[in-house]
Amino acid sequence: MSKVLKISNLHVAIDGKEILKGVDLTLRQGEVHALMGPNGSGKSTLSYALMGHPNYEVTEGTATLDGVDLLGLEADERAKAGLFLAFQYPTSIPGVTVANFLRHAVSNVRKPDRKEGEDLISMRDFRKELRAEMDELGMDQEFARRYLNEGFSGGEKKRAEVLQLAMLRPAFAILDETDSGLDIDAVRIVSEGVNKVAEKASTGVLVITHYQRILNYIKPQFVHILFGGRIVESGGPEIVQLLEREGYDWVRAKYPDLAKVEDELEQHNPAGQLTF
Ligand SMILES: Nc1ncnc2c1ncn2[C@@H]1O[C@H](COP(=O)(O)OP(=O)(O)OP(=O)(O)O)[C@@H](O)[C@H]1O
Ligand SMILES: [Mg+2]
Repeated sequence: MSKVLKISNLHVAIDGKEILKGVDLTLRQGEVHALMGPNGSGKSTLSYALMGHPNYEVTEGTATLDGVDLLGLEADERAKAGLFLAFQYPTSIPGVTVANFLRHAVSNVRKPDRKEGEDLISMRDFRKELRAEMDELGMDQEFARRYLNEGFSGGEKKRAEVLQLAMLRPAFAILDETDSGLDIDAVRIVSEGVNKVAEKASTGVLVITHYQRILNYIKPQFVHILFGGRIVESGGPEIVQLLEREGYDWVRAKYPDLAKVEDELEQHNPAGQLTF
């Protein structure tokens, strides 16, 4: 049976400032959705709130995975429930190798009842699986012995995220700008990696991106525009082409009240969160 991730009327505040103002979004397993929207519109806020980041306060609304209330769960329990987030800015964990990190993460998700530190999946099986996934992603085996994200290039970080995805095979994956900083070949390799996982595990994928490029490989059936903290437009891939061609001015003109919200946020945080 395919699972459903359902977000209803989600409001999220950071430091008391409301960023998301009632987001509605439903994903079914096996579906690919793209979430687009100008800088600062709240895309990363949505993914952090769904993953349970402590700074992101849900003030109203619900998020359920197959009827289970995600918002009442700790971050690791959300992962066990089948949710995965590839961060826009992955953090490094000095002292923990990629292999070690993944063995723990995979054990957590596949053996949800095990106690921390006990009963890890067997080293032999794990190594074999890791090697196969790394080969598929075109990653050097040496990479598994490095500390997670420590000194990784932008592209290496993104590949490491997709390697996690491949090993964890979640029901739902949110990929926050997984294409940013990737060279032309890497976008294709990483996308093919995502597609393979999505096919194997029937993962429902939410691709957050600014550009059409990655969506030429990971093809969305549904495209949404987040603007001023709300999803204002939903449709098919034609939306991506429209945005590439015309940018967001027509969205601002169509939703003047939310455009005001956008201006306020800009004043609240003049540096903004630009994506380079
Ligand atoms: N920790 C924080 N403290 C204060 N403001 C924050 C914090 N995190 C996010 N914000 C603000 O929330 C708003 C939404 O940010 P968010 O990162 O969700 O945008 P985004 O849509 O992902 O943008 P981008 O396309 O640039 O990645 C921005 O105005 C941002 O400055
Ligand atoms: Mg973002």
